[in-house]
Amino acid sequence: MAFISLQGVSYTYSGRKEPAVRNISLNFGQVEKIAITGLNGSGKSTLAKLILGLLKPQNGEIILDGRPVGKYSLVEVGEKLGYVLQNPSQMMFNTSVYNEIAFGLKWRGKSKNEVHHLCKRYLDLFDLWDLRGELPFNLSEGQKQLVALSAVLALQPRYLILDEPTKSIDTFRKKKLKDILQEIWRQGTGIMVISHDIEFVAGFNGRRIHMAQGEVVEDAGRYKD
Ligand SMILES: Nc1ncnc2c1ncn2[C@@H]1O[C@H](COP(=O)(O)OP(=O)(O)OP(=O)(O)O)[C@@H](O)[C@H]1O
Ligand SMILES: [Mg+2]
Repeated sequence: MAFISLQGVSYTYSGRKEPAVRNISLNFGQVEKIAITGLNGSGKSTLAKLILGLLKPQNGEIILDGRPVGKYSLVEVGEKLGYVLQNPSQMMFNTSVYNEIAFGLKWRGKSKNEVHHLCKRYLDLFDLWDLRGELPFNLSEGQKQLVALSAVLALQPRYLILDEPTKSIDTFRKKKLKDILQEIWRQGTGIMVISHDIEFVAGFNGRRIHMAQGEVVEDAGRYKD
């Protein structure tokens, strides 16, 4: 059984005539590596938000791990899917970089020691430990992106959805991110990356799904049950 299944899913934003996502049917396995590509406005982020239950489709159904996504609370979705949205500053509400990583870990009931250990380990991934006392608001776009990535990776989710993860980050850290994603995928994490970054997508080497005007126009390496 697919881990995420979309059946005839369409979504139109209020006040819009054309659907942002139209009649999409896709199945994703739990340990698949997916790259979603497409021009600006082709519906990629809308598709991700539908899968995450942040938007409700007007048509069709989305099943996550055997249950309609609409039946989960957002917290429950967050336990199944780790994600970084396209604009990560919208997701940051803590008073320090450290707390941005620690928050989710504390919520999961980790001890103070474990929280400290994991914060250090995941902030070190992208050389962010020295920024641990900074207010996330004051960081550059690239630094915010890396903090958001560290925070989600620290939670070690079973499945990861990243919307434009390489936006504003340098070549060295892009390579680092690529290596980390390969490693956690090998260890059994499913990954969906939405990206304009052709080089990154090529290196990621997953099943590539190309969208245009809200539709899937190419699916190289379709999931089979
Ligand atoms: N909040 C919104 N209200 C109205 N229309 C929206 C909203 N968000 C997106 N849209 C529209 O929905 C369509 C799909 O947008 P979406 O953000 O899903 O595309 P995308 O493929 O992620 O684009 P990008 O590559 O620029 O991130 C576009 O026409 C966009 O203008
Ligand atoms: Mg987008």
